[in-house]
Amino acid sequence: MNGDQSNMVLQPQCTLKDGTTIPAIGLGTWKSDKHLVGKAVNNALKIGYRHIDCASIYGNEAEIGEAIQYHLTQFNTSRDELWITSKLWNDCHQPEFVRPALLKTLQDLRLDRLDLYLIHWPVSHRHGIKIAKEAREQIPRAELPLSDTWEAMEALVKEGLVQKIGVSNFNSKKLRTLTKSASISPCVNQVERHPYLQQPSLLSTCEQLGIVITAFSPLGSGGSENLNLLKEEMIQEISLRNHCTPAQVLLAWGLAKKTIVIPKSTNPERLKSNLESTTIQLQKEDIDCIDSLERHHRFNDGTIWALQGGDYTASYLWDEN
Ligand code: A2P
Repeated sequence: MNGDQSNMVLQPQCTLKDGTTIPAIGLGTWKSDKHLVGKAVNNALKIGYRHIDCASIYGNEAEIGEAIQYHLTQFNTSRDELWITSKLWNDCHQPEFVRPALLKTLQDLRLDRLDLYLIHWPVSHRHGIKIAKEAREQIPRAELPLSDTWEAMEALVKEGLVQKIGVSNFNSKKLRTLTKSASISPCVNQVERHPYLQQPSLLSTCEQLGIVITAFSPLGSGGSENLNLLKEEMIQEISLRNHCTPAQVLLAWGLAKKTIVIPKSTNPERLKSNLESTTIQLQKEDIDCIDSLERHHRFNDGTIWALQGGDYTASYLWDEN
């Protein structure tokens, strides 16, 4: 990670294998209401965010595109200063649907290229089925290997429509298989990651393969009834010691682990304070304490894809061995 002073706050960068840099903090837009997301993106870009994480399934790319376009035309920011990521949804994995899906995203985002395009899940649905309810609405793995989808992703790079390609929600096994057959290696794996789900084995595979991890839900995704990182006593204590907020502690921890973090917020104060987490340097003792919070807990466990009689079981998704 390099220090790079730009805009209002320090913007650390994450460096890919080929030297390309990505702003290490980005704005997450999953669950951002489409009536609020435009304002949030405008705000974020104004205060110095340079990385926006999107996906077609979030249903808000058109609103995000409008905000990006507004910022580029009204402020002195060039397109090259921004890092925009989007993701291919499960119902467009068949090679013939990959390019049209990207073109729709580009149209919505009002861009002529993406910086990064990811396969959102290693789970394929029949075309037009956004959320499969029965196994027959999914495409069996043998019928459509991920390598076929990947080849179509590679073609997008060759055509200049996307700069980089990667994956999301892939375990080590799938990353190793994909890298073996790929002519362009995935450069990013976006996965859920926070102190309750640290994934050391996946991190080490990614390091070996030269793949950068982007941590989604770095704040713990709003928590559940029993588990809430922002209310965790130890996180609160560390935040008091460091004169910052619990959210900033969690983000500074993610950055210290050399992962990209993409906290979601549509609230102006939280957007600002999340970005300012890049200025916080945690002591080793604090980091060790946070490491001890591991619970192997997924807030987004993918069981929605584990349909009776289907291929996409929890073990297929997550088993590291
Ligand atoms: P909001 O959009 O109202 O700020 P994650 O990125 O881990 O998925 O977490 C997102 C959730 O955390 C959202 O509910 C978001 O709500 C909330 N959130 C974002 N930033 C902060 C913050 N600094 N402090 C507390 N909650 C936050």
